[in-house]
Amino acid sequence: MDDRPIGMFDSGFGGLTVARALIDLLPGEDLVYFGDTARYPYGPRPLDEVRDFALQVTKLLVERHDVKMVVVACNTAAAAALDLLRFECEVPVVSVVDPGARALVRATRSGRVGVIGTVGTIGSGAYQRAVRATRAPVELSCAACPGFVEFVERGETDSEQVHVLAERLLAPLVEAKVDSLLLGCTHYPFLARTIGDVMGREVVLVSSADETAFEVRAILADTGLGRRSAAKGNHRFVSSGDVAWFRALGSRLLGPELDGVEGWEWG
Ligand code: DGL
Repeated sequence: MDDRPIGMFDSGFGGLTVARALIDLLPGEDLVYFGDTARYPYGPRPLDEVRDFALQVTKLLVERHDVKMVVVACNTAAAAALDLLRFECEVPVVSVVDPGARALVRATRSGRVGVIGTVGTIGSGAYQRAVRATRAPVELSCAACPGFVEFVERGETDSEQVHVLAERLLAPLVEAKVDSLLLGCTHYPFLARTIGDVMGREVVLVSSADETAFEVRAILADTGLGRRSAAKGNHRFVSSGDVAWFRALGSRLLGPELDGVEGWEWG
């Protein structure tokens, strides 16, 4: 048994979709969530730079917050740095990519599946590899959706502008007639209504959040790292950007657990 918190990070608010699933599934675990809002978005940056950021944040979580596990709740960071983080870290590192790919191939009936993500994630080929690794007989179409993350970070999840952008970016997936679409960026579940409207109600939208939370639970059980106490967990949120904005938008997106935010400045 291990009473240390679970660490989790994203470039900003997106990982809160994974935090929500984790808090719901494992209410007794303590959590430290880091949103690197001073440096978001990660998606358009070169993968080398994202790799450096991911390593820096992971070290901060392990060394300063003494976490027992790191959940990379950012597809772009996982695509850029997962192997390095696993190599550098003494604690288990969990990503959203493999759980997402597994959930996607389970959801399809026609075998035509899609993944959307940031330019960094789609360009890295991480999902193409993860879906292939499932060995499911599916036909995969991928599309990068630059601009979606910025809408979410501004708190604009249901506007006419985001709808117009979604119609343009999702057109190839509508054309490919996918029946299941993985939201391969943790920000995108906040745009689910818009994405669902554009794709059509019959298309299943798959989020990696729940599947990742199940993976965390399985690892805690296998490694004996679960928390001893049965009391409700403590949830801390840290942001490298505007703390007041993180609290205002974050509590709207995550819920009442986000009732305070600590600041962090990169030196
Ligand atoms: N939420 C992050 C992801 O899953 C990325 C967003 C960004 O571009 O910063 O990829």
